[in-house]
Amino acid sequence: MPEEKPTLDHEELPTKLGSEFILRFYRLLRGTTIYDRKNVIIDRLTQECLQVIHDIIQSEGQLFLKMVRDNFFFNNIRVQVKADKYPIFKAFWQEMRKRWIGEIEFSKEVNGEQLKDIIYLLSGLEENNESNYLLIKKKLEYRDIDAFEAGKLEFFKDEEIYVDSKDQKKYSKEVYFKSIGLVKEVVDSIHQQKALNIRKAKRLMQNAVNAIMQDESTLLGLANIKNYDEYTFNHSVNVAIYAIALGQRIGIPKNHLSHLGMAGIFHDMGKTKIPKEILNKTGKLSPEEWAMMRSHPLIGTELIMRMKEWGDLSTRMMSAAFEHHLKYDLTGYPRLTQKRRITLFGRIITVADFYDALVRPRVYNRFPYVSEKILGIMLERSGKDFDPGLVKVFISMIGIFPLGTLVLLNSNEMGIVTQIQEDSELIDRPQVCLLYYSDGEYRKGQLVDLREMDEVTRDFKRSIVKTLDPNEYNINVAELLI
Ligand SMILES: [Fe+2]
Ligand SMILES: [Fe+2]
Repeated sequence: MPEEKPTLDHEELPTKLGSEFILRFYRLLRGTTIYDRKNVIIDRLTQECLQVIHDIIQSEGQLFLKMVRDNFFFNNIRVQVKADKYPIFKAFWQEMRKRWIGEIEFSKEVNGEQLKDIIYLLSGLEENNESNYLLIKKKLEYRDIDAFEAGKLEFFKDEEIYVDSKDQKKYSKEVYFKSIGLVKEVVDSIHQQKALNIRKAKRLMQNAVNAIMQDESTLLGLANIKNYDEYTFNHSVNVAIYAIALGQRIGIPKNHLSHLGMAGIFHDMGKTKIPKEILNKTGKLSPEEWAMMRSHPLIGTELIMRMKEWGDLSTRMMSAAFEHHLKYDLTGYPRLTQKRRITLFGRIITVADFYDALVRPRVYNRFPYVSEKILGIMLERSGKDFDPGLVKVFISMIGIFPLGTLVLLNSNEMGIVTQIQEDSELIDRPQVCLLYYSDGEYRKGQLVDLREMDEVTRDFKRSIVKTLDPNEYNINVAELLI
């Protein structure tokens, strides 16, 4: 295969400037949700954003940002998103989308007050209003600001879009439970040796990819809350979700992401051939039983091999099934007679599988590890069991306090983590929904952002002291989170 041409120098600079602008502009936009326009932090964020706008106008003559599907185009060149910047891009994309804004243009430089006018105007737009861009136009005309323009978001026919966050959540939830249904169907089809509706399965995974692109937090939230009893079904779906979300961050194209989802759904199918008594055994497994357990990657591969009509997809699914316990340095199982490199799909599923398997309570693992601990283990075994690059991206994706974590704050309040901070420097300062106790149960209270600073003390208003076990407090996290 021919090698990919190196990027031309003149393309790199604009992309860098474009990324920088998105980062600064988004930070300022997020700032408006916590602080008013006279706040010193807003002043600082405004100055930082003005600086990039200045640099861009000076070197490029214009600043034009357009969103097409899930891509950003900066002055008509597609912006390459690096994995560490991905969460910010995605969050910005979602904020714009919610407001039906698909284009932003600065035709010349603005001053601080003008930029504040623009950003508070954008931030204050109502969700799901198609004519927001006209409203901006009118208001800016009134304020005599002609250097900025916002354009309407373009939607494509094949995109399933929910701009309303409630509808989106409902849809995401539906996709999650339909995927569990799919796993059940797959298991049944294996037991009863009947054919599976491939087209339906593929379509469902495409929907899952769409849902994760638009509403990652609901799906990761569902995967993170471990309060189900049907381990195998949920486990396969969770692995698919983690894998898609991880794949998306490292730039795997959309059509391959749904294949990755299918690989997640199928990775443990070999277990359907292992007796239940062994799968659910609480005591120590005998050497024979262990050998049986360890055969599931191979059995799974054979099962998939029989599904000839799956084409390309079946090769990818086979790799994931075969490789997910092999480990990065090949010291796992099945034992190989010949060294080979583990495929990208195999490496992704390995990371997703390990995390989900450890974090959840199951029969022979009564106490779920706290996520922080598991991520620590993964980091420790990075390069041995796991692909180091993937581990890094995965940890920043899950955060040290994953969605749905019950936390105690130094303000003596209790809350549930509802949003991970996109900025990796603030990974310990997520958004939290406070809980209050009334009529015999915990209820949802105010949403607070742990980045919020106290203006007088110049210290954070609230910080996490420790994580708590929801069962001890009789709290159903799923109900409160989604
Ligand atoms: Fe497995
Ligand atoms: Fe697994």
